[in-house]
Amino acid sequence: MPGIVVIGTQWGDEGKGKCTDQLGDRTDYTVRYSGGNNAGHTLVVNGEKYAMHLLPSGVLNPGIPVIGNGVVIDLDVLFEEIETLTARGVDVSKLIISANAHIIAPYHRTLDKVTERFLGKRKIGTTGRGVGPTYADKINRIGIRVQDLFDEELLREKVEASVAQKNQLLVKLYNHRAIEPVEVADHLLSFADRIRPMVRDVGRELNEALDDGKLVLFEGAQAHHLDVDHGTYPFVTSSNPIAAGACTGTGVGPTRIDRIIGIAKAYTTRVGEGPFPTELLDADGDRLREAGGEFGTTTGRPRRCGWFDALVVEVAATYNGLTDVFLTKLDILTGWEKIPVCVAYDIDGERVEHYPVLMSDLMKAKPIYEFLDGWTEDISECRTFEELPENTQRYVRRLEELIGCRISGIGVGPAREQTITLHDLID
Ligand code: IMP
Repeated sequence: MPGIVVIGTQWGDEGKGKCTDQLGDRTDYTVRYSGGNNAGHTLVVNGEKYAMHLLPSGVLNPGIPVIGNGVVIDLDVLFEEIETLTARGVDVSKLIISANAHIIAPYHRTLDKVTERFLGKRKIGTTGRGVGPTYADKINRIGIRVQDLFDEELLREKVEASVAQKNQLLVKLYNHRAIEPVEVADHLLSFADRIRPMVRDVGRELNEALDDGKLVLFEGAQAHHLDVDHGTYPFVTSSNPIAAGACTGTGVGPTRIDRIIGIAKAYTTRVGEGPFPTELLDADGDRLREAGGEFGTTTGRPRRCGWFDALVVEVAATYNGLTDVFLTKLDILTGWEKIPVCVAYDIDGERVEHYPVLMSDLMKAKPIYEFLDGWTEDISECRTFEELPENTQRYVRRLEELIGCRISGIGVGPAREQTITLHDLID
């Protein structure tokens, strides 16, 4: 049994939970390796809807849920999610957490919000959850880690040093009231006893699980184009959601990963600011948004909607070494006479067939579309590829060609069983 990574190939919200849920019953470990509660997984199991932000979506499955060192943890959110799920009868007691994961402190949330306000027109459109400032502290080596909760003196010292610096910024630059370090430290320490039993050597445990032939699923949050290195910088998140992040974010080496599954929505969405060449600012965009229920799980913000951009997904397939693509929400495209697919960009009058290297080129890229024939039949009950209308099949095959990677699964509705499997995701 392999190590499998599931990642988003666009700007997030591709419906990764649907794919991880397909693998769910067979996984021994489901691991989050990057991001924080800026993520949002919506799962529908037995007609019940579950929305989670921090816990791996695999928490609903029999395996062990894991939060790796690459994740940033808001302790309030962690325990709120645990309590909500427990109240609904979900067993969360097997959750394990890396001692090296960084903690989102209340001042990180404050900083996230005031920084966005300060940026004004240049704002990133963050989720306001404190994710960016927490990663900034991590890289600055002034972060607070889970393990710090177990040494009260050290924790108080670290919080004090960090808050002293933040207060300079908050008071002098942002005209905000100062933060009281003792209050912050008391609050964080109040979680110490509850989190302690969950803290384990995640890297060793996952490596041993892989040695024993267990199935370890690394569940990406956000997506390739929100990656701080490879995404549409600066309109990105502050971590590495790409497949390689599964290694740095947990402590397993690249040789341990066998499959990398990229999730692609049958059209494109984005929340927050930043370039989006196929964005539809007209009634067609509204129609996609309504049909797809494209409103953020985390912030409730309406998502920006547009046609499928093959250049966006192709570069994600290439940079992540995708072995498979899982296409989601294909049913949402039912009812269009023609479905445009972006196959190239017009940049300053020149036809460009690859995702550009320069952000300034992407900013002015105009989509060049190929218009595929649509379908009107309800596809939500189809369970095999052959059952799909011919035009739907053609749409899928054309995307496959353009992306350069096989499509192994297709989502035709929100429920677990509304899925078509072309190639088994585990073999
Ligand atoms: P942050 O991660 O909250 O700092 O936000 C940075 C950018 O990433 C913003 O454009 C957010 O809207 C976007 N973002 C963060 N998490 C997600 C997600 O799970 N889905 C989609 N966009 C996200």
